Amino acid sequence: MRILSGIRPSGKLHLGNYLGAIKNWIELQNKPDLDLAVFMIADYHGITTPFDPKTYRAGVIDQACQYLAAGLNHEKVLLIRQSQIPEHAELGWIFSTITPISWLNRLPTYKEQLEKFPKYNHLGLLAYPALMAADILIYKADTVPVGDDQKAHIDITNEIAKKFNSMFGQTFKPVKALITSGARIKSLQDPSKKMSKSEDEGIALIDSPKVIREKIKKAVTDSGKEIKFDEKEKSAISNLMNIYALLSGMDNKDLEKKCAGKSYVDFKNDLAEVVVEFLKPIQEKYEKLKKDPNYVLDILTKSEKKARIITGSTLKEIKEGIGVE
Ligand code: ADP
Ligand code: TRP
Repeated sequence: MRILSGIRPSGKLHLGNYLGAIKNWIELQNKPDLDLAVFMIADYHGITTPFDPKTYRAGVIDQACQYLAAGLNHEKVLLIRQSQIPEHAELGWIFSTITPISWLNRLPTYKEQLEKFPKYNHLGLLAYPALMAADILIYKADTVPVGDDQKAHIDITNEIAKKFNSMFGQTFKPVKALITSGARIKSLQDPSKKMSKSEDEGIALIDSPKVIREKIKKAVTDSGKEIKFDEKEKSAISNLMNIYALLSGMDNKDLEKKCAGKSYVDFKNDLAEVVVEFLKPIQEKYEKLKKDPNYVLDILTKSEKKARIITGSTLKEIKEGIGVE
């Protein structure tokens, strides 16, 4: 199994990122049939929407600290910055020459970002999936663990790979999106939306216990009193239950039994303690890593050096195939 995944450094990682993506990464890094696992800070994707150049670099290193604190083991996986491996962008360019615009401009993620940032109607935002396909295919990865909002991008990756193969000869195999079951964490303020860094930010992995308790206290609830898992009729409570169940390893039915007769307020108090306890060891590790940025930088540069051996060789093969070398 060859794995690649990444997250843009566009804000603090939240419980949605963790439960929808990173939790899966950590499980996968221990698989016996793992051939290669690359986890990326997608800093070239991050500049397709507004960002602050003064703090961007620090945010990238901070995200690496959060990856490590959450449990990624740099002895088992490669931890890289997308921008430090030029072959990603180079293959992204090649892919942009074979990707029809009609595949790109109807993507829901593209439309959503444009709605949020109307001034960012530029080529990079449109070409985002071509670079993402390059991130994956430059390692000939076969498995991409992501949240379900990224599924459409993986479909395009496969379309690009197929088109490339038909134009220049068999080079890429199909890629599979590995979607974490049940893990689409919703916003605490509006459960019809996903928890997101750019909206109300959700519960960040590095929020203090005080902030976590406040955010959960302020989370919207549904009408009625009963703590019941019903995503249609009780979407807010079901979202909170989902977080509780995923963090504590309980299933929703057992949780319902445990909560029978409890008020929303009591349930929220319990949930806050579950979240605080779950994040405690992650936060302790994060604080240590933050004090030693050179250690983190060293992990990144060593991983990137190893990654470039693979990306250089794939790119060479591709360039030969299309006659530009
Ligand atoms: P955000 O929307 O917060 O900016 P990204 O789009 O950078 O997050 O997503 C990073 C990864 O985390 C992706 O694999 C994505 O599918 C996953 N993810 C993001 N938000 C959620 C969520 N609310 N629930 C589950 N997974 C999520
Ligand atoms: N688009 C992903 C996100 O917004 C980040 C990403 C970039 C990615 N390249 C990738 C995810 C390759 C998986 C594989 O979160």
